[in-house]
Amino acid sequence: MADSPNCDLKSLSPLQLFERVTEQGEKVRALKAGKAPKDEIEAAVRMLLSLKLLYKTTTGQDYQAGLPPRDLVLINNGTSKEEDEDFVDPWTVQTSNAKGVDYDKLIVRFGSSKIDTDLINRIERATGQKPHRFLRRGIFFSHRDMDQILDAYENKKSFYLYTGRGPSSQAMHVGHLIPFIFTKWLQEVFDVPLVVQLTDDEKYLWKDLTIEKSYEYARENAKDIIACGFDINKTFIFSDLDYLGTSTGFYKNIVKVQKHVTFNQVKGIFGFTDSDCIGKISFPAIQAAPSFSSSFPQIFNGKDNIQCLIPCAIDQDPYFRMTRDVAPRIGQPKPALLHSVFFPALQGAQTKMSASDPNSSIFLTDTPKQIKTKINKHAFSGGRDTVEEHRKYGGNCDVDVSFMYLTFFLEDDDRLEQLKQAYTSGELLTGELKKVLIETLQPLIAAHQERRKQVTDEMVKQFMTPRKLAFEF
Ligand code: TYM
Repeated sequence: MADSPNCDLKSLSPLQLFERVTEQGEKVRALKAGKAPKDEIEAAVRMLLSLKLLYKTTTGQDYQAGLPPRDLVLINNGTSKEEDEDFVDPWTVQTSNAKGVDYDKLIVRFGSSKIDTDLINRIERATGQKPHRFLRRGIFFSHRDMDQILDAYENKKSFYLYTGRGPSSQAMHVGHLIPFIFTKWLQEVFDVPLVVQLTDDEKYLWKDLTIEKSYEYARENAKDIIACGFDINKTFIFSDLDYLGTSTGFYKNIVKVQKHVTFNQVKGIFGFTDSDCIGKISFPAIQAAPSFSSSFPQIFNGKDNIQCLIPCAIDQDPYFRMTRDVAPRIGQPKPALLHSVFFPALQGAQTKMSASDPNSSIFLTDTPKQIKTKINKHAFSGGRDTVEEHRKYGGNCDVDVSFMYLTFFLEDDDRLEQLKQAYTSGELLTGELKKVLIETLQPLIAAHQERRKQVTDEMVKQFMTPRKLAFEF
């Protein structure tokens, strides 16, 4: 190896470069430990210093062992007190702040961009539609390359939507609906194809589930997704266990991604350890593949350059940072993303609503009575201890879970503002605010259950059949 980084190194992505510096550091340590000749050690150290310099000029950041470049920092390794406060990855969301995760900080740490008023106005101009309440209220708060999607759209170039669900149980909770409600709106206003990945393989690998059970959950969850109102002529829903074996386009992309991501990289990104099964280690390539239109030759007529837009909560971003790093190296466009905040647990915004803790969640299968009891009993209140104090000092909407839920589901902006004023001033009591939430959620979930009842096995089969959709490519 030469003493200075060669030209090939200059073409490496930040993540590959990070990886190269790490390897070189390990090499230096091994040479020193093995008492190698002095000149050999010196040459390796010089190489390490050059690589660190190249890393700095490429990423604008100092190399820090164990911390991938900021755009790719996926796991908070607890390097500083401040960063310790929030932990966000595909499996865990935890903060010590009752107001929830600091999303502005997350944007900086993850290297994404804020969805600002200019972008929202641009979406409004492009679609001619009032922006969805999730945009108006900052629930979808961060993006990657949404401006490129709009550039293309304004130039009459189509794109497609991709989102997904890991079917870990029969019942989805209200939080899971957030990306699907928004995706349905996007499909309607942009009139584009949608692919929905059901990662039954992922859930088999991660959970104590049989293959048969995860596959069954995938089909059950598909019914909830269909009940969100997706257009059957414009939507393809697939189970990984089904589709992967039948689509050559899809598997080719998986293998391409696998070739371009090392074990070290996924360890850094997802926190895998040497004792994780190899299924987990290679899974990120499977979640990456639907970001490329060539994975769906039947929809895109074999074209590999149709851009993809992925709406999801920000916990899924690690998969797509990896995908975006790989995309140019396998000759594919980088997927764009729209990220949402988390729908909080009933107990408070320190964590997200999670299906594994029934008391933290309102499920799409809950009865009106269960909804009422859960909210009255568990929804964390920003109200005061006594009525007198509440009247005097008012409640705190920033930490009140009922108010937070209303920001997701109450459509009327004026009513929401009135509730905020009344609660903050002490005029409205916690019980009264909870009542508004109960009366908002009960009909919404009942209507979902009614629509789900109408979804037949035949409809599920149609949605899940690989086929051409109502678009020409
Ligand atoms: P899963 O099943 O954990 O979550 C499905 C979708 O719901 C989002 N989500 C939430 N959104 C708001 N508040 C919450 N409390 C909340 N909990 C979950 C997730 O971000 C996700 O968008 N591996 C994925 C499945 C998947 C996928 C994708 C998701 C495959 N391809 C592409 C998004 C985009 C999973 O297990 O999601």
